[in-house]
Amino acid sequence: MHRPNNVLGKGYKTGVPPVTGMSPVSCGFFDTRPKVSRDFVFGRDDVINEVERLLNSGFWPVILGPRRVGKTTVMRVVINELGGIYIDVSTIMGLKGLGLRLIDEVKRLNIRVKLNLAMLQLDIERRPMVIIEGLIRELGDVVIGIDEVQNIISPKLPSLLSVAYNESRVRFIFSGSLVGTTRLIMKSPESLGRPLIRFELRPFTREQSIEFLRISSRNCGINISDIEIENAVNEFDGIVGWLTYYGSLRSSGKSHPEAMEALRSIAREVIKDELSKLGRYELVTYRALATLSRARWIEIKRLAESLIGHSIDDKTFTTGLKALVNMYMVREVERGIYEVIDGYMARLVREYGV
Ligand SMILES: Nc1ncnc2c1ncn2[C@@H]1O[C@H](COP(=O)(O)OP(=O)(O)OP(=O)(O)O)[C@@H](O)[C@H]1O
Ligand SMILES: [Mg+2]
Repeated sequence: MHRPNNVLGKGYKTGVPPVTGMSPVSCGFFDTRPKVSRDFVFGRDDVINEVERLLNSGFWPVILGPRRVGKTTVMRVVINELGGIYIDVSTIMGLKGLGLRLIDEVKRLNIRVKLNLAMLQLDIERRPMVIIEGLIRELGDVVIGIDEVQNIISPKLPSLLSVAYNESRVRFIFSGSLVGTTRLIMKSPESLGRPLIRFELRPFTREQSIEFLRISSRNCGINISDIEIENAVNEFDGIVGWLTYYGSLRSSGKSHPEAMEALRSIAREVIKDELSKLGRYELVTYRALATLSRARWIEIKRLAESLIGHSIDDKTFTTGLKALVNMYMVREVERGIYEVIDGYMARLVREYGV
């Protein structure tokens, strides 16, 4: 059996772009790329241990959660520790694209298989399913991490995973930002007897966020005062991606106000891009809830109607609101009461109308 060690996928993808125009950040804690080593990961030991335990007991974990909460980081650390293949499918089109990436990674990591990989590459265009299934059967005991899995939902995916489960020793770990992902990966995981387990990654608590900035800044040798930490934590609402970005800006030499300002303009662009993917009613609903922070269904609806300038029928409104919940942008805190998950995002939407 071949067990690759310390393997990293090709390019990183992160919720925020790399900090440009600054000297590279040498400190691992505030590196804005997803971490691959536990040494630089804060507050996720229990989650990583649990995900590894599940994988070792034959389950396939599905890590879900809001943007920038650290899903990719957890996945990459697990893959790094257990040995495996990481594939970010956010820019991949369909199963063919997945197959090609898989072959590339097998080659790159030098995983020995009794197959002619060059032939598979040529053949994948014609018979993607057969090729991927054949490769998976040959792979042996390898963990395959599929990140942003909602991007390759295909009607053929359940049957592919079914073959993997029944006829190979490959273990999967998935990650995504869509509540319904588990259902989409396998139409009915329970009935098919496949071992998908959902894992929801939550934002840090206030205390964890404070600890994260305190410990990381100390380890990085930069001085961030208690008041600055408090101020940053008030702003970033436990979303580790924003906290890391702030730390990265600080370690590049920016003062607290400069870092806050720089992050604000970067985050506005990032958020604008994300919101541009929402439908019209989802967007107006998000804007309404961003203004209210936490509110009842009817209050959000009224404000959404006033923002859009006409009435919205109940069903359309509810569908939009549910879509936001499914994307982990909004959570239902109590029956019929909703709140935004990322307060920083909501604040920028409120203040700049991005
Ligand atoms: N536990 C952690 N400790 C330290 N840094 C972390 C931790 N989790 C994530 N990060 C940092 O936060 C940022 C976002 O992490 P990551 O890309 O893993 O999140 P994500 O949930 O996959 O985001 P996206 O939704 O954009 O895919 C990265 O800069 C990463 O290095
Ligand atoms: Mg990610």
